[in-house]
Amino acid sequence: MKVVVSPPGYWLGKELSRLLGLDFVDVLEKSFPDGELYVRIAQPDKVANADVIVVSTFYPDQDRAFLKTLLLIDAVKSSGANKVIALVPYLAYSRQDRVFIPGEPVSSCVIVESLRAVGAEMLVTVDVHSPRTLECFKGPSTNITVQDVLIRHAIRDLDNPVLIAPDRGALERVTSIAKTYGLECDHLVKQRDRVTGQITYSPKELNVSGREAVIVDDIISTGSTIAESARILLKGGAKRVIVVATHGLLVDNALERITSAGVQKVLLADTLAVRHLHPTVEYINTSLALASKLRELLNW
Ligand code: R5P
Repeated sequence: MKVVVSPPGYWLGKELSRLLGLDFVDVLEKSFPDGELYVRIAQPDKVANADVIVVSTFYPDQDRAFLKTLLLIDAVKSSGANKVIALVPYLAYSRQDRVFIPGEPVSSCVIVESLRAVGAEMLVTVDVHSPRTLECFKGPSTNITVQDVLIRHAIRDLDNPVLIAPDRGALERVTSIAKTYGLECDHLVKQRDRVTGQITYSPKELNVSGREAVIVDDIISTGSTIAESARILLKGGAKRVIVVATHGLLVDNALERITSAGVQKVLLADTLAVRHLHPTVEYINTSLALASKLRELLNW
């Protein structure tokens, strides 16, 4: 028996169970008067002796979503599940994947080690910020990319586009997708002040003049990275800037920041439990690609 368990409010679990032809088991959730969280698996008998995929994403409200996932995995194990696979499309805290300033924790390791500690035997993420994070998980783990789907969509009507990684860290990801589609790619040189969070860009020659530039990133949070990148590309003569990102947190006035920098379109994957309605934003359904990559990975 193989089943999918997912908390209320996140559409992906149900969709994946449909695409994979697996039973879906609901979760009941409430908050106690003092704010503490309570979860219960609606049909624990369906989970007993089953291989269970717990589908849960860590945005919005990342701390509570993380705790909810830990409680849920424990509940699934206590109900007698045979094996638990945690599918966490957006793994919050993945950007703190090392000690940048002495005295800091490696938050990403704390998160994945906790998932393991409560009983997740396998971890699957989607476009996790850095592969280093998964190395902390003491068990099999995989990162699935859906950026190929987003980029395929983005370049449909573009003529000779160039893919741009907004920093060196993102270059590897972008290079491999550029190769797949036979596109040119380049990167910008970003530095972030580790104390203030302020970003600056170093000058760099780019072959974007008269071309359509597609910025590719994993996360958009405040939108500063994208806005600064877009300004540089437009200043360098790009005809149009569009953006592809997997996890669109879009905090505060991120979209205003991005559009006022001249970005014409933002394509996002549907990895979060929130959507932003805005004329510039388009969500691409990646569940089909995710389901097929999962089927291949799990051999289900
Ligand atoms: C950082 O390296 C990430 O890949 C993103 O570029 C970053 O998290 C985006 O943050 P923001 O939108 O606040 O600039």
